[in-house]
Amino acid sequence: MRIGVDYYPEHWDRERWEQDVKLMLEAGIKVIRVGEFAWSLYEPREEVYEFAWMDEIVDFFGKKGIKLILCTPSATPPKWMIDKYPDILAEDIHGNTKLFGTRKHYCFNSEIYREKVRKLVGLIAERYGKNPYVEGWQIDNELGHGNTARCYCEECHHKFIDWLEEKYGTIECLNKTYGTVFWSQIYNSFDEVIVPKAGTCYDFDSGTQGQNPSLLIDYYRFCSDSIISFTKESAELIKKHSDKPCTSNLLDAAVNSGTGIDYFKLSEELDFVTWDNYIEFQWGKAKMETVSRDHALLRSYKKKPFWVMEQQSGPCGWSKMGPSPDPGKLRLWTYEAVANGADTVVYFRWRACTFGAEQNWHGILGHDGKVNRRYAEVKQTGEEMERLSQKVGTLMPKARVAIIKSFDTEWCHTIFQNVEGFQYDNLLLAFYKPFYDMNISVDFVQAEEDLSMYSLVLAPALAYVSDVAKNNLESYAAKGGTLVITFRSAFKNEYNRMLPETIPGPLAGLTGVEVKDYDPQFEKSTSVAGIFGSGTAELWCDIVTPKDAEVLGLYTGSYFKGAPCLTRKGSVYYLACDLDEKAQGNFAKYLCGQAGIEVGLYVQEGIEVVDTTDGEKQVKFLLNHNNYDTVIALTQEYKDLLTDQKVVKTVKLEAYGVAILGD
Ligand code: GAL
Repeated sequence: MRIGVDYYPEHWDRERWEQDVKLMLEAGIKVIRVGEFAWSLYEPREEVYEFAWMDEIVDFFGKKGIKLILCTPSATPPKWMIDKYPDILAEDIHGNTKLFGTRKHYCFNSEIYREKVRKLVGLIAERYGKNPYVEGWQIDNELGHGNTARCYCEECHHKFIDWLEEKYGTIECLNKTYGTVFWSQIYNSFDEVIVPKAGTCYDFDSGTQGQNPSLLIDYYRFCSDSIISFTKESAELIKKHSDKPCTSNLLDAAVNSGTGIDYFKLSEELDFVTWDNYIEFQWGKAKMETVSRDHALLRSYKKKPFWVMEQQSGPCGWSKMGPSPDPGKLRLWTYEAVANGADTVVYFRWRACTFGAEQNWHGILGHDGKVNRRYAEVKQTGEEMERLSQKVGTLMPKARVAIIKSFDTEWCHTIFQNVEGFQYDNLLLAFYKPFYDMNISVDFVQAEEDLSMYSLVLAPALAYVSDVAKNNLESYAAKGGTLVITFRSAFKNEYNRMLPETIPGPLAGLTGVEVKDYDPQFEKSTSVAGIFGSGTAELWCDIVTPKDAEVLGLYTGSYFKGAPCLTRKGSVYYLACDLDEKAQGNFAKYLCGQAGIEVGLYVQEGIEVVDTTDGEKQVKFLLNHNNYDTVIALTQEYKDLLTDQKVVKTVKLEAYGVAILGD
């Protein structure tokens, strides 16, 4: 476990490097990520390639003992290229061209762009592939960020048609599958099929697109596949010359809902995953459980340790800034990442830039490049991490609870939001939070994967259940696994069409219920009571008939008062409505009891406790997210791995303080 920085040596005078590297080494910084936006330096004019500047960087920092993550600079095709090949530019949903002037203005399906990327990535990989100072590769930067995953240009259109032809074979099959008879959309040939740009009914404020939902989900899949194939292409080129691992920096789930990439699939093309963790910035402040959830997602995509490739290290924003992180927060955020499975935490950025769009985006150092309190905190963290790494290997929490996350389902629920306020990722977060509050680690899984290591699996609003998923869930439950299925599950097919069966179609046998009716909670809410106490449903109420399931909760309001809202068949629960935070918390506790997961009676607000292991040793992290000092009680004797002191009975934690305890 170690720290690094995102660094742009080309932004600074060469003379400054000496001082930067000295400060980096003193702070325990082991790795720098470089070059992700440097295309116009690598290729200032078409086919004129310049590497001397990067040779110097790699050589200089490498020789000083700092490793490098080298990036493919494909996120910033230069001006000459756009002028000569304007078709590279992406088109938005309204048919407007995304112009040059910021970044990520390209279409992933543009053949010219792909060719240019192939050429440059090949040359970079060839040149640095065997360089001993390069320890890994980042492909592009934040793929899909800022609504860039879905392009609607002519080239995408042609490729989409090929993709559809390959999938459906005949236009009749597509017409039948999509139900194009609706609103007179029957196509006579594949050439007629459109890309779903904004049509007459498009109104994103009210969540309506009006396009055929099967067409939409296929387009979302096609766009995700396009980015994945682009990533794969770059990774394969790199691997021809290098045996160092490839990654890309992903985004948090809240943003990712708009990013439109199936991260489980994308991760298959990467050797390790990383993400960018901004917690308090111009665009808002993340909740504690949100950051934890995002770390959990990252360790789940590949079931192995990940990196934070950009960790906030100062006040951030473009036009406006968020707050300056209070003293202690950089260290706290770093250890929170480490506790949740991060192997390396790279701070964005080393030093605030004096020019360009991100002048306000502060790094460890400010614009003046002088040592400051943030540097001192990073240095303390770097030194500690070095000592910690001598005692234990990379740590991961061992989760016994899993939440199923499906990108197909996410897209179903984005295309049709079901009811005002319904947001798939928020719903997953609502299921995650009570476990976070109880200091119980949770992984995210796909419905098709091996679930046997989990005692409790939650499947919120799993709209589409594949045959493989159905069998998998059935066999998990048959072996005694505790499983929760909820409202808005198993009602769609893979083409985003409603199933003609009674909900929950393929899961009817497993859950032992039939959903005879439902009541979207639009401008209303319904009271409920049961084993979770009493509470309210604010989003959705299924009105359920138990076939061979027992009733554990009832509606106590609305016209369906007395109908069940929670049932159980064997170890499978059907939760027919959403629950408010308190009831959701009680339900989580009840489930833990049923699944044999120990719930500590004793938790302290704002204190995150994560039990981790490196495979051999057990390590407990105590993270104080409160802005005041406090004392935590312990149930056994530990050794503080940072101070080497024995700790008995209690630990005192400063505001935003951390304790890392071993046996
Ligand atoms: C990230 C991006 C970085 C930088 C940073 C600050 O999203 O990867 O390149 O732009 O945000 O805005």
